[in-house]
Amino acid sequence: MSSQTMNCFLVEKSESNDVRTRLTAVAIPDLNDGDVLIKVKYSSLNYKDAMAATGHPGIVRNFPHVPGVDAVGVVLESRDSRFSVGDEVLATGHELGVERWGGWSSHLVAPADWLVPLPGELTLEESMTIGTAGFTAAQCVQALLKHGCKAEDGPVIVSGATGGVGSLSVMLLANLGFDVLAVTGKPDRHDWLKQFGASEVVGRDALAGNEKRPLLKGEFAAGIDTVGGQVLATMLKKIQHRGCVACCGVVGGGEISTTVYPFILRGIALYGIDSAWCPDDARAEIWTKLATDWKLDDLLETKVDLSLTTVNEAVEQILAGKFSGRGVIQIDE
Ligand SMILES: NC(=O)c1ccc[n+]([C@@H]2O[C@H](COP(=O)([O-])OP(=O)(O)OC[C@H]3O[C@@H](n4cnc5c(N)ncnc54)[C@H](OP(=O)(O)O)[C@@H]3O)[C@@H](O)[C@H]2O)c1
Repeated sequence: MSSQTMNCFLVEKSESNDVRTRLTAVAIPDLNDGDVLIKVKYSSLNYKDAMAATGHPGIVRNFPHVPGVDAVGVVLESRDSRFSVGDEVLATGHELGVERWGGWSSHLVAPADWLVPLPGELTLEESMTIGTAGFTAAQCVQALLKHGCKAEDGPVIVSGATGGVGSLSVMLLANLGFDVLAVTGKPDRHDWLKQFGASEVVGRDALAGNEKRPLLKGEFAAGIDTVGGQVLATMLKKIQHRGCVACCGVVGGGEISTTVYPFILRGIALYGIDSAWCPDDARAEIWTKLATDWKLDDLLETKVDLSLTTVNEAVEQILAGKFSGRGVIQIDE
């Protein structure tokens, strides 16, 4: 296969450390035992992809690089007995688009262990509208449910609500009957969030952390935090007794300054969510839920259509916190 080429979004670094990107054709990598070659139909834009597309050293260590932590497509060649030519498969996380070349390409070579058969209830496009963001949102929601949270316990607060993880968290929670308070920095997106199920929408001031007290009024049964930093620290102070928070994000900072009081006086639990290396059985369970019981009727309304030609502008927007919903990249023939 290496004599064939693939069209991809290539990130390169010059000797003077300038990062530049271009669409180009490169040789399709050789397959090892256990690998599968996929004709990619769709990928998506996650915050991590934007970091990869700009050569962030915390994400990309080897150049040239192809971003894309998500991909869905059709098997062209398989060196693993679990997959056959013509199968529709999706891949999210693991080392895709980070240590290994990812889905912003016409072709992808990935270990079979990283692939999930596309659930029959989802179209290729729907699966990438979910992508890593939706998969992470679903893991956050599942953490709350496993903790024992019920709709009647009170409202759930979601930060970074217009983002990929945030918006799908709002939708999944609302679909399960929860009252959702969405926190956003985008005043023009309040109606958009209400359309997707938020009962109330407030500005980021709600979690700005100007209050220095170790505990604030316990207004929420639970929270999903996609931002980190002060936002997470403040959210913890506002959770009621025996509630919980699921955290996954870092757009607002990687450090949290908190006290032990939410934990020892209110028994709050903090669940960390990792999507990249989610174990296979848990991964399959989440995808099945997303395709069946938790399937979102209005999922595609969150979609922003992108291509490898237009994605650079969206990369700038997402890094500036100005992107809403899910960027889905259609890969041209
Ligand atoms: N742990 C995991 O496995 C995992 C998986 C997926 C994503 N993540 C992380 O989760 C986070 C969200 O990912 P995403 O793909 O959903 O990104 P995204 O689409 O860019 O969403 C992030 C949202 O956070 C808000 N925001 C941005 N900058 C902010 C700031 N400085 N302070 C407060 N709020 C800010 C914005 O929403 P508003 O304008 O509505 O406030 C933005 O839309 C990222 O840090 C990403 O790396 C982690």
